[in-house]
Amino acid sequence: MIEELKKKFKEDIAKVSDKKTLDDLRLRYLGRNGELNKILRGLKEMSEEERVQVGRYVNEFKNEINELMNTAEEKIKQAVKTFSKEWLDITAPGAKFPRGHLHPRTQLMRRAVYIFESLGFSVVEGPEIETDWYNFEALNFPKNHPVREMQDTFYIKNPAGGEDLVARTHTSPVQVRFMEKNNPPLRIIVPGRVYRREATDASHDYQFYQIEGLMVDKSISAANFKAIMEEFFKRLYKQKVAIRLRPSYFPFTEPSFEVDMGCVFCNQKGCKVCGQSGWLEIAGAGMVNQAVFENAGYVRNEWQGFAFGIGFERMVMMKYRINDIRLLNTGDMRFLKQF
Ligand code: PHE
Repeated sequence: MIEELKKKFKEDIAKVSDKKTLDDLRLRYLGRNGELNKILRGLKEMSEEERVQVGRYVNEFKNEINELMNTAEEKIKQAVKTFSKEWLDITAPGAKFPRGHLHPRTQLMRRAVYIFESLGFSVVEGPEIETDWYNFEALNFPKNHPVREMQDTFYIKNPAGGEDLVARTHTSPVQVRFMEKNNPPLRIIVPGRVYRREATDASHDYQFYQIEGLMVDKSISAANFKAIMEEFFKRLYKQKVAIRLRPSYFPFTEPSFEVDMGCVFCNQKGCKVCGQSGWLEIAGAGMVNQAVFENAGYVRNEWQGFAFGIGFERMVMMKYRINDIRLLNTGDMRFLKQF
């Protein structure tokens, strides 16, 4: 019977992990009405010999209990000590997860697209790997003609055989692709990535974004183009921006112009960014060449339109005062975290 009680006690004490349970246990075994006293009370009915034996046995058990109790108490004290040192404030606010955000180019691109949409333009896309026809010939760049040297091109072997493909050097091929399938009046923009086989420096990269624009109707003029540009820049930069057209040449527009915008860094007073001129070259543009309309399947001289191609990284650089175009493609967090 005592053996069983011993076993039971050892099980009980193994489970104890706090002071209160330990005290209860002590009372249950060693208290006035505890298990041991119950046994001792029975001694009266025993013979002298039994009494001595049981008495000694109970005493040993008592010592054992005391020892185990002390060890357990020590353990509890130790645990309380560690716990108070490792105290955890469960009401403290949690650690914040690092949170990503859109790339500065994407941020500004979304705004640019939104502005053009609000001016009645629809967004159209086209392939980045183009055929020679769409990237060049349909845009009035004859084969083997020196005008092709305007744009240094990455050529790609066509896996299906035949003529090489090109990484599109501009978004203009989408003009032709769209007009083949749609009739005027039309107003589209084509935001997209383009490629040039060029050495890089602070203002040139071999891949960058353009926003192509195309507006075609019965009587569209260069004045309409200038108005759209002025409105676009004013809304994008949230200030009035001067626009200047300079005569230029592109095979797919006639006449052609280079579009400059007044430098927003120095308010056209002249600074490092604009090379002291007060102006920044921002787009190529012109009235759509009738040869392009014809290549897209329209009847010559039935329609008029303007087209433009904005160099988008330039605009991002001006907006956020970035002095090296290549930073936009590095993915460097030290740079990107600033936006
Ligand atoms: N595609 C020309 C370029 O990349 C820009 C342009 C677009 C010029 C549309 C005229 C009209 O340089």
